[in-house]
Amino acid sequence: MPTILILNGPNLNMLGTREPEIYGTETLQDIEALCRDEAGKYGMDVDFRQTNAEAELISWVQQGRDTSDGLIINGAGYTHTSVALMDALMAYGRPVVEVHLSNIYKREPFRHHSYISPAAQGIICGFGAKGYALALQAITRLV
Ligand code: DQA
Repeated sequence: MPTILILNGPNLNMLGTREPEIYGTETLQDIEALCRDEAGKYGMDVDFRQTNAEAELISWVQQGRDTSDGLIINGAGYTHTSVALMDALMAYGRPVVEVHLSNIYKREPFRHHSYISPAAQGIICGFGAKGYALALQAITRLV
């Protein structure tokens, strides 16, 4: 059974109460349940994680080379700042799908650039929690 590593960056542990008008009312636990449900439909397993620490996120991408078949990532704030995260994703060597709850291109200009995109097969943004289900649907064809 293919395993999909789903990584969530800083402040996503606050979902549900964090700017719900932008990010919706689902909690990260709700999103994890949604992902497990969706992955089950495609016969895939998920390894779902969140961290506020850039170093931990990078270590998880590195370890994922041995433990996963594809990766879905919401890099949150590090999307727009982290060359190191991009480098780790470039070296991952398996399919990567980038997800954002909000449409980053409709927001402040500093959110329009993503260091993750060059390492990703595709991007899904602007569909809230449903974007994670769409990302799983997309990655099942790639792994
Ligand atoms: C986000 C968008 C980022 O710009 C922001 O820093 C986040 C969440 C999203 O899911 O819409 O923390 O990745």
